[in-house]
Amino acid sequence: MTQDELKQAVARAAIDYVVDGEIIGVGTGSTANFFIDELAKIKHRIKGAVASSEATAARLAGHGIAVYDLNHVPEISVYVDGADEITAAGAMIKGGGAALTREKIVASVARQFVCIADGSKLVEVLGKFPLPVEVLPMARAAVMRRLAALGGEPRLRLQAGTDQAFITDNCCEIIDVLGLSIADPLALELQINQIVGVLTNGLFAARGANVCLLGTPEGVRKLA
Ligand code: 5RP
Repeated sequence: MTQDELKQAVARAAIDYVVDGEIIGVGTGSTANFFIDELAKIKHRIKGAVASSEATAARLAGHGIAVYDLNHVPEISVYVDGADEITAAGAMIKGGGAALTREKIVASVARQFVCIADGSKLVEVLGKFPLPVEVLPMARAAVMRRLAALGGEPRLRLQAGTDQAFITDNCCEIIDVLGLSIADPLALELQINQIVGVLTNGLFAARGANVCLLGTPEGVRKLA
C-alpha cells in the first residue's frame, strides 16, 4: 500500500467517530484532506465543521460543508487531524503544515481528539521531526536565542524556493527546532509557551490525542 492509501484508510475509519447532527472539528494537512473528502460523502448527516486553517475551510466549503466560526460554537464533539509524530501515549508533534495554533485552539474545545496518521508517524520519543514554534515576527530573533538555549537548533521556516519568511494564517512566522529529543513533552510544551513572543508550539501533550488510528499494511490499528 502507498502512504496515500494508508492515509485514506485512516480517514475512512475516522468517519465512525463523527457524531450525527453535530459540528465537527477538522484539522489540516494531507491526511486531514482525505478525511474532508470522506466527510463530504456523509455531509447530510452533520451540521457543519470548524476549520483549523484557511486551506481546510476552503476545502470544506468546496465540498458544500458549512464552515462555522469557532466563536459561535460552544463545544465540538470530535476533532479529527493528522500528526507529524505521535507516541503510543497520544502526545504529538504537529505543525508541519503551519496550522498548529488554530489546530490547538479547535482541539481544545473538542471532547475527543482523533488522530489519523500513517504508521510511519508512530515514534517512541518525539523530536526527530523538527518542532514548529509559531512566533510574532518582531520576537523572532529573541525567541530563537531562547530555543537554542534549550538545546535545539532553531531555523526560520521560509516560503518554498525563496529567502522570505513563511507567513502563517495568523500573520506570524514559524521557527522549526531541530535536534531535540523530547523525553517530557508536557514539560517542554509548557516551557516553550512561557517564552514571550511565542504564539504556540507544536507539542500537543497537554491536550493529546484520545484515539489514534494508524494506517498499517495489515489494516487500521487503533491506539487509545
Ligand atoms: C498541519 C499538521 C498536520 O497534521 C501534520 O503536518 C501532518 O500532515 P500530513 O497529514 O500531511 O502528514 O499539523 O499543521
